[in-house]
Amino acid sequence: MCGIVGYIGNKEKKQIILDGLKELEYRGYDSAGLAVMKGLELDFFKAVGKLENLTNKCASFESEGYGFAIGHTRWATHGKATEINAHPHLGEYSCVIHNGIIENYKEIKDKLEKNGISFLSQTDTEVIVKLFEFYAKDLNAFEAFKHTVKELKGAFAILLLSKKDQNKVFFAKNAAPLIIGRNSQNELFFASADSPLVGLSEEVIYLEDLSFGYANKDELVIYENDELKNKSFSKLLSDKSYAKKDGFRFFMEKEIYEQSRVLSEVLMGRVNGDEVIFDELENEDLSDINEITLCACGTSYHAALASAYLFERIAKIKAKVEIASEFRYREAIISKNSLFIVISQSGETADTLEALKIAKEKGARTFAVCNVDNSSIVRLAHLSLLTRAGIEKGVASTKAFATQVLTLWMLAIFMAQKKNQNLNDEIKALLHIPNCVVVTQKLHDKIHRISKRYLDGHGFFYIGRDVFYPLALEGALKLKELSYLHAEGYPAGEMKHGPIALADSKLYTIALMPKNMLYEKTKSNVEELIARDSTLLSISPLEFDLSDDFIRTTEQEHYMCEFFEMMLITQLLAMEISIRLGNDVDMPRNLAKSVTVE
Ligand code: F6R
Repeated sequence: MCGIVGYIGNKEKKQIILDGLKELEYRGYDSAGLAVMKGLELDFFKAVGKLENLTNKCASFESEGYGFAIGHTRWATHGKATEINAHPHLGEYSCVIHNGIIENYKEIKDKLEKNGISFLSQTDTEVIVKLFEFYAKDLNAFEAFKHTVKELKGAFAILLLSKKDQNKVFFAKNAAPLIIGRNSQNELFFASADSPLVGLSEEVIYLEDLSFGYANKDELVIYENDELKNKSFSKLLSDKSYAKKDGFRFFMEKEIYEQSRVLSEVLMGRVNGDEVIFDELENEDLSDINEITLCACGTSYHAALASAYLFERIAKIKAKVEIASEFRYREAIISKNSLFIVISQSGETADTLEALKIAKEKGARTFAVCNVDNSSIVRLAHLSLLTRAGIEKGVASTKAFATQVLTLWMLAIFMAQKKNQNLNDEIKALLHIPNCVVVTQKLHDKIHRISKRYLDGHGFFYIGRDVFYPLALEGALKLKELSYLHAEGYPAGEMKHGPIALADSKLYTIALMPKNMLYEKTKSNVEELIARDSTLLSISPLEFDLSDDFIRTTEQEHYMCEFFEMMLITQLLAMEISIRLGNDVDMPRNLAKSVTVE
């Protein structure tokens, strides 16, 4: 979603804001803007498209000396990606940046319009600055800001500057992340994620929902739910190594290649002999759990689907899977002795976070499987396991998915252990997984060569059975995100119930045909498609004569080893097709990394 940064200090403010936005650009990149306030001088710049357009636009602007600066990179929710809709939004003497959605912006807009106030943009954000100036006619700036924030409904992280009180940055946060950073030179920073703060701030405060306040070099005033709080800073734990591509063409490529190392780290300290151990769960009794609900969005939802097969097969616990945006508005029944697991890379996905809140309110025991410590989801859930993927910068998720599946599989084994089952084969396979995702030059070259045949067509069907069905969904999602070609994932056995009507030579079937999971069944389904002239790329350890293209995988003893190797192949295939089509692999059109709006 949108990215927010802010700075209070003496340094070149424009550059600090641009550098911070660069870190967040992968989250939203339709347009960007910044504003700098020094005394009563308020300068602002906006540009459509990538951040470099904004950088060029303010190239000759200098902003040394004590002052305040805010910046924003946008993923459009209300109104197109135009300069007028870009943030900061301006009043007569104030400006605001905002991440989230103001749900009641229409009501506020109507009210202000009745009072003779006009609007320039189509955004929800503009109402914030106009409402602020409306109240500031009669109140001091902080009181006006307070009144404004109280009237807003929805999700927001807000930074506001105003000449009415030129010695403050006003901030507010609800259901969208906002972090305050500080260093030993007494500079203050704001950001919607850790990454812009790394290297600049030593300590941070993660603001809670319904927080608002103001800051300058001498004061930091934070209210939570109207109560003045004395919040303490905690150490910022991160380094900047993720920010380099290390010779790879794209962050996504780097992240695909690092999966072997990352998956070793997921296992580190968590397998002892033939046992899975989680220190985090040492004192937890999960023996009464007889049902699991898994809830997530997008790629994380696919990890949830795959793990549901594992919870039932290995731990013998009933598992069902929910799409978070659906779960929120369903009168879902959560039974006693059930565990509600949310899965999220970012830990900030609005739908998943709300689903978690609902489950918690209904009395469920909640559990987060998440990549970001201290994220809203981790803080809210009763229990959590971190997936240890490290920062993922490619908008299309790769290593985060791999770590989610591995962590959930380990959790299934962990819960099965309580039932005294023999799990040696599972443990053996688990330990072998890092070897299954090593990218060899030969494999990458082969996928690069094959990719040239799959740049058009009227559609792709990724098909598989059992856990390979969620993997088919994930493979198709990767392809459509990166190539903008239409792709669907389907259970192989379901094609004959309708979708097979689409089959012809321009329908590309990507068949996941593992040796250790329903091979013959999948093969029959693939043959039905071949008989209707569909073009076939099969991925399997077993040669399949009828394939137009064939990628041979390693002979493995466990289907999960095949799962991870096939995952790697589908990721590389989507990336290579996207590169050939000239698309931006790391920042595909219309997408954003962390979806903090509904
Ligand atoms: C796809 C992708 C998205 C996310 C989804 C949930 O490549 O990255 O589908 O998986 O937006 O995000 P998290 O996992 O952060 O909750």
